[in-house]
Amino acid sequence: MKIIHSCFSTCFSVKEETKQEEEPNKEDESDGNFRVFTYRELASATRGFHPSHKIGEGGFGSVYKGGLRDGTLVAVKVLSIEMESMRGEREFVAELATLANIKHQNLVILRGCCVEGAKRYLVYDYMENNNLHHTFLGSEESRMRFNWEARKEVSIGVASVLAFLHEELKPHILHRDIKSSNILLDRDFTPKVSDFGLAKLLRDDKSYISTRVAGTLGYLAPEYASSGQVSRKSDVYSFGVLLLEIISGRPVVGAYEDRERFIVEKAWAAYGENDLLKMVDPVLDMNYPGEEAKRFLMVGLLCVQETAKIRPRMPEVVDMLKNKKDMECVQISKPGFVEDLRNIRIRQEVMHSSEESSSGGATFASTSSLTTSTLAR
Ligand SMILES: Nc1ncnc2c1ncn2[C@@H]1O[C@H](COP(=O)(O)OP(=O)(O)O)[C@@H](O)[C@H]1O
Ligand SMILES: [Mg+2]
Repeated sequence: MKIIHSCFSTCFSVKEETKQEEEPNKEDESDGNFRVFTYRELASATRGFHPSHKIGEGGFGSVYKGGLRDGTLVAVKVLSIEMESMRGEREFVAELATLANIKHQNLVILRGCCVEGAKRYLVYDYMENNNLHHTFLGSEESRMRFNWEARKEVSIGVASVLAFLHEELKPHILHRDIKSSNILLDRDFTPKVSDFGLAKLLRDDKSYISTRVAGTLGYLAPEYASSGQVSRKSDVYSFGVLLLEIISGRPVVGAYEDRERFIVEKAWAAYGENDLLKMVDPVLDMNYPGEEAKRFLMVGLLCVQETAKIRPRMPEVVDMLKNKKDMECVQISKPGFVEDLRNIRIRQEVMHSSEESSSGGATFASTSSLTTSTLAR
């Protein structure tokens, strides 16, 4: 982690910063690699973090759009450190530890960071088309048209990068918060997985028990929610939910005030009735290949099976989506889900009614191993 080390030593060094301030023209010099930004540079890029530049608000910080002096557009995430829990710091280090060193066409590019007092800043390439939740899964009136080919490319892109993080990298990386608002879309709608604030480096192939359950309700694997058991298969579960969302065009727990069933329950019921295609987004109006859509929905259901062991690994998911694997004889078993999801959401809604935005479900983190009932508190 040389990068992180040099980042911290540079960020905390007042001398270094003063020197940079004396030579403002040097600030924008960048070969596109990860670098340390000065606070002044980021403040000027975002017009002093002006509210009109704010483009996102997530569980751990606000995100601002900014323009560097060389014209490059960036997104700047601001994390405030909570001194008691060190919340914010942990997320900052997790993003640095994972994103600063790796490159993949479906990963957002982290350009650099900055440390200033109790604030931490992460600087990414700016993604023109916001996130999947915002752009494609919003209300009928506001969401953009999302044709079959685009859905297919987004699904395969996200699956490919997860296969890369899980299987090609050593140590493996678990994302732990795969959801539609953490999938950014660039100018061409290429998906870029972002938000590695909860990511974990996994040094061996085993799962481990986390005392700190974190993630987003609705995407959370049942074994993780109930006993804190984390493995690559918990990311596979979240991916399965995401895939069902992409094909159906409905957010995971949308319209819960109408008591609409959780997307996983709905897909399982449709599978039982041998009518999986009724899950497909009506917006597509029959303009999609039926066999392929059915395959995608089956893959979604395979990923959310209750028993983590029998969920496929991400490279297998990629092969199935690309039709490189025969799925004729595939058996799908019962999906798992956090039983009281609707109650949890409704209670959360009451508690945070003023915060509800297009964030696509709030990420939470808790310091104890949670049961479904404690999640609701
Ligand atoms: N690089 C980026 N380009 C454009 N928008 C971004 C970028 N990074 C984040 N955002 C916006 O900010 C939101 C929150 O960012 P995220 O990294 O998920 O932070 P959090 O940890 O707070 O959830 C995203 O859902 C997206 O709308
Ligand atoms: Mg997020």
